[in-house]
Amino acid sequence: MARVCVFGAVAADIVLRLPAPPHAGEHLNADPLGWRPGGSSANLACALASAGHHVDLVGPVGDDPMGKALLQELHRWGVHTDHTLRVPALAPRALILLDDTGERTIIGLGPRPPIDQFPPTVVPDLATTEGVYVESFTRYPPALLAQAGLPATALIVAPPPDHPQAQTPADLIVGSRDQFPQPWLTAPFTAARQVAGARLRCVIVTAGARGAVAYRADGTLHVPAPAARQVDATGAGDAFTAGLLHALLDGQSLQAALELGSTWGAHAVERLQSLPPAWQQLLDHLTTRQAEP
Ligand SMILES: Nc1ncnc2c1ncn2[C@@H]1O[C@H](COP(=O)(O)OP(=O)(O)O)[C@@H](O)[C@H]1O
Ligand SMILES: [Mg+2]
Repeated sequence: MARVCVFGAVAADIVLRLPAPPHAGEHLNADPLGWRPGGSSANLACALASAGHHVDLVGPVGDDPMGKALLQELHRWGVHTDHTLRVPALAPRALILLDDTGERTIIGLGPRPPIDQFPPTVVPDLATTEGVYVESFTRYPPALLAQAGLPATALIVAPPPDHPQAQTPADLIVGSRDQFPQPWLTAPFTAARQVAGARLRCVIVTAGARGAVAYRADGTLHVPAPAARQVDATGAGDAFTAGLLHALLDGQSLQAALELGSTWGAHAVERLQSLPPAWQQLLDHLTTRQAEP
């Protein structure tokens, strides 16, 4: 198993299930499903930790009771949080509206002051780290990784940049279609190369039940999504990225990693949670599935 460092932030998802997507002027009754940790970096960290990796999460955490509860939840998943920083702000919340198809609408409730205004001051020694996920290179500048001793051989994974010109020196850029700058979608690899530089190996564009496409210098790979009964689409992309990283850190081929990412993504949408299923639960589920007709 690998040492992985995830640079991001921790938020709480407050989940409401609605009978249908809301329309202006309506009065709807929602089913309140409570809160759970959310945000792509927390989701990814929990998934990789539950798969057995040593995962460090770096980032700000609100100093309110919700921030404390979020840290406890991360510990429960086995994530190391020595390099999180309690900051004088509320933990960010997002309202997740689930409709009857399991699709989610996310309404970010940005705290004031915003949590990402606090610069990272505690960064672990990355000398033995094999994989890094950077939620935003704007918040965590590329120089930080080198300063922390990240080996040149480590795998760097990032979502599409916040701004199309933002420097994003990653080996892999992974995100869903609507996360990418629109002009990038005609030639994702060529476009991403402008901000990622020579280390870029692959750009992966996910498209829910339509699967994912990996763009490389030498062509594309399409991976269909396995059939799934979607009840909660929240975090599918994070589960996909976690599965992909898990396989790549294990030395598997890109094709195999894409397939594992798709499997984790599909399993995540079948469960009422942002966090991908724990590794053991996933194995149990796969075994049960194979026994089904
Ligand atoms: N309804 C679904 N059925 C099967 N697989 C899915 C479904 N939704 C997502 N996935 C898998 O998860 C991946 C990521 O999902 P996607 O919806 O594109 O990401 P995001 O969570 O960022 O919106 C997809 O490429 C696919 O492999
Ligand atoms: Mg989606």
